[in-house]
Amino acid sequence: MSIRKYSQFLPVTRIPDQAGYTVDCAFQQCINPSCKATYDLFEIHHRCPKCGSLLDVAYRWDKLPVPKDLSYFEQFWSQRRIPQRFSGVWRFHELLPFAPLEQCVTVGEGQTILQCSPGVAAYAGLNQKSLYLEYEGLNPSGSFKDNGMAAGTTHGRLVGAKRAACASTGNTSASLAVYCACTKLMNCVIFIGSGKIAYGKLSQALDYGAKTIQIAGDFDDAMARVQEVSKQLHIYLLNSLNPFRLEGQKTIMFRVLEALNWEVPDWIVVPGGNLGNSSSFGKAFIELHHLGLIKKIPRLAVINAAGADTLYRLYEEEKLRWNDGNVDQAKIDMFFKQMDAEGRRASTIASAIEINRPVNLTKCLRALDFCHGVVRKVTEQEILDAKAQVGANGFGCEPASAASVAGTKKLVEEGIIGKEERVVCVLTGYQLKDPNATVAYHGTDAAFFESVLGKRGVKNAPFANHPVSLGNDTDAIIDLLKKD
Ligand code: F0G
Repeated sequence: MSIRKYSQFLPVTRIPDQAGYTVDCAFQQCINPSCKATYDLFEIHHRCPKCGSLLDVAYRWDKLPVPKDLSYFEQFWSQRRIPQRFSGVWRFHELLPFAPLEQCVTVGEGQTILQCSPGVAAYAGLNQKSLYLEYEGLNPSGSFKDNGMAAGTTHGRLVGAKRAACASTGNTSASLAVYCACTKLMNCVIFIGSGKIAYGKLSQALDYGAKTIQIAGDFDDAMARVQEVSKQLHIYLLNSLNPFRLEGQKTIMFRVLEALNWEVPDWIVVPGGNLGNSSSFGKAFIELHHLGLIKKIPRLAVINAAGADTLYRLYEEEKLRWNDGNVDQAKIDMFFKQMDAEGRRASTIASAIEINRPVNLTKCLRALDFCHGVVRKVTEQEILDAKAQVGANGFGCEPASAASVAGTKKLVEEGIIGKEERVVCVLTGYQLKDPNATVAYHGTDAAFFESVLGKRGVKNAPFANHPVSLGNDTDAIIDLLKKD
């Protein structure tokens, strides 16, 4: 950690010590316990330059003004005219204090709701009041990514970035495009796999003016290219490899606790793709526990799509574990070597999580370790049926998000989640992101059903709300409605 002579520049992250030197209260640190190298807040790394592991944003909490309990944050509800206190991310600034509050970027993210859903609870086999849906689709760009992007673009601003890039299955790119278009702080470049992104998301990136590069490959190829390109051209990278993004995503959990009157639920269930969310939820609970702000730790369930099940295979079948940070890298390397040799590529209707090589794998293992986690995989049929149930109970979500409800149902059936336990399913993206999947499921066009869902193994649509086609005839319409 760097210690400097006291200067005029004194954001929240730097405070004078007794000898008059400034101490960095926020810095970057390698997550590998046998390395633990630290880096200045203003350095830009995608991984630890010393050992190649992932980086965390770390804080010297002992030097920072930490709230005594979580109800401290309630005072900010009356300060909603201040954009940073309106923000559902920066309202919790004291728990991610790497930038001065007035420099924190916001486009009004985090106005989300945690809704108790008896209907979805019944579907999942839980008691009526046991299941809560955290609607992250209510964010400005329609997904949870805005939580991370508020924090990531704030760091980009601190380091003076003029151009930002990401690879994406769609939502990260839509989110980055919003932040760039709205703030004009950076120009936006997005890398997407060709034919791999739902139109709702692509249309957002185009509309918001992002330079859109469609490469011949999938998300993992786009992820590899964006890292190389951004390194060579010094473009600021805003994938979840960026530890500042994950700081913002911690606030999803803070808002869940807030909505539960600061009570910790029994389970958090989240879809797993690149594993940024699960990693950042784990970090949130590790820090809250360390700071004495929570006593109980919730269990974490990460849900893969069966067609993109790297985490499931490694964690549940290969028994890969965090192991105090000594993750068995040889096992991971062997796994990916075999994946390539067999030509196995991720494929799922939940295109948001169609990922082979999740970049935050080791951080997710840490989260699973701390939160006594489990991983499950769910089929395309299970995802779409769960999605229809979420829709029927309000707001709606995109396919990837419904994996959390499908996974909950599975864990209740297995007896791992008890019927009376309090479960929070994170609905990561809004329903209109991928209308194709929804219309194919509910519609009556058999050929369309087959081309979107049938070819993926979806056999039927038991919860379909079929539209009715009638002639342009008032009597016929009245006859139909009289039968209701
Ligand atoms: N749900 C949605 C709607 C997503 O867009 C993503 C990720 C996930 C879940 C998985 O979250 O990566 O934190 O495990 N979408 C990324 C993107 C990969 O590019 O938009 P994760």
